[in-house]
Amino acid sequence: MRIIGLNGSPRAQWNTAQMVESALDGARDAGAQTKKYDLYKLTFKGCSSCFECKRLDYPSFGKCAMEDALTPVLNDVLSADGIVLGSPIYFGDLTACVRAFLERLWFAGLAYNSDYTAVYERRIPVRLIFTMNAPIENFHRQLNESVASTMRNFIGETEILEATDTLQFDDYARYETSVFNVAAKLRRHMNVFPEDLKKAYKVGRDLVSVARKENPV
Ligand SMILES: Cc1cc2nc3c(=O)[nH]c(=O)nc-3n(C[C@H](O)[C@H](O)[C@H](O)COP(=O)(O)O)c2cc1C
Repeated sequence: MRIIGLNGSPRAQWNTAQMVESALDGARDAGAQTKKYDLYKLTFKGCSSCFECKRLDYPSFGKCAMEDALTPVLNDVLSADGIVLGSPIYFGDLTACVRAFLERLWFAGLAYNSDYTAVYERRIPVRLIFTMNAPIENFHRQLNESVASTMRNFIGETEILEATDTLQFDDYARYETSVFNVAAKLRRHMNVFPEDLKKAYKVGRDLVSVARKENPV
């Protein structure tokens, strides 16, 4: 049982990374082996539109044919039993690296037939973690639901966990942050973010049970 975690924030120790780590802690405590990738540490691009994943006469049919630092990660992800993918929200969207990763993961798994059938043979359960500065819980839900829906089509059963109103700076006094109520931000970080981490832990632990049912050994 292998669970892969992907941190889609450029920051390797902050909110998203901690949420992904906590989910992996939960998965490990439930008996899984885990591995985490920081996508921003890898040099890779999004889909190059080479269409080699669609060529019927090529061995790359149904596989991303691009060769770069994402290639082994995609192989690892597609042979895993469960995936935890974390992205901060940037301008109401995924981060650029997460978007590039998903273009490669999704496009190779999509057949250009009348039903856009999913090509990948195994279904892999996915847990999406979104972190954002916005305090309103449902602010970005439309994006989150749309990512989850595509994930369900091509990869497997997908659930979302969100951490909102996150802490952005170590020391708010050193930056222009007059738009924020800094005391409230710090309070939330002390009181609510630890609860978000606990939710992530439970998500990771529960993912292992879901993965066991999805692909029994
Ligand atoms: C370039 C950039 C754009 C951002 N855009 C948004 C946004 O549209 N909505 C939002 O709620 N937060 C936005 N944020 C804040 C981050 O989503 C939030 O702080 C997140 O938790 C950061 O994750 P990290 O701590 O793992 O890096 C933005 C941050 C950056 C750096």
